[in-house]
Amino acid sequence: DRKLVISLDGPAASGKGTISKLLAAKLKLTYFQSGLVYRNLALSCINNQIVPTDIEAVIRLSQTPRYEETDELFEENVGIVASQIATIGAVRSNLSGYLVKLIESTPRIIMEGRDIGTVIAPSADLKIFIAADINVRAARRYKELSEKGSQYVFDDILSQLKIRDQRDAEREVAPLRPPKDALEIDTTILSPVEVVNKIMKYAFLL
Ligand code: C5P
Repeated sequence: DRKLVISLDGPAASGKGTISKLLAAKLKLTYFQSGLVYRNLALSCINNQIVPTDIEAVIRLSQTPRYEETDELFEENVGIVASQIATIGAVRSNLSGYLVKLIESTPRIIMEGRDIGTVIAPSADLKIFIAADINVRAARRYKELSEKGSQYVFDDILSQLKIRDQRDAEREVAPLRPPKDALEIDTTILSPVEVVNKIMKYAFLL
């Protein structure tokens, strides 16, 4: 099989993970969640009592990017810290270097995140950008976290998503934007399977 790169970007809780996993299974691609690299760094900062405003210390930690999966990583406070450190240019270039190498060394990959189609893989074979109403995204995240047994308040999740969205869209370095040649899909009233079916109509491009 020839090399294939698909990028999938969008805001928090828009369904990126679910959709990417379904596409990965259909098209035999390695699935990679770039947000986890940011979340790993955020968790290291929290565990080492490094605050996001201690830029020098955060940059130092970002020189050794990690990709591990633990339940803790998915907590919304980790997402908030991730979005804070993700505004630091030198942090982004360290983590981006890691992501770019990963794409280069993986034959067939779908990578999801915020800047994959715009910065990390601008020559991806297919670029997807998904969006969804913020209330629907908060409801999805609430359901997901509640199923894991955590105690959360819907309004807290909604306000945390708003903070994170705004920070991701307004930062100076690699802000969240649809790549200009992206397939844009609003998932507000679509199920993950319906979204994947829409995307598969473009799979002839691959
Ligand atoms: O995708 P996820 O919500 O897990 O990402 C956590 C945070 O990491 C995002 O809110 C964003 O600030 C940052 N991020 C990023 N660029 C990426 C992936 C994630 O800035 N490619």
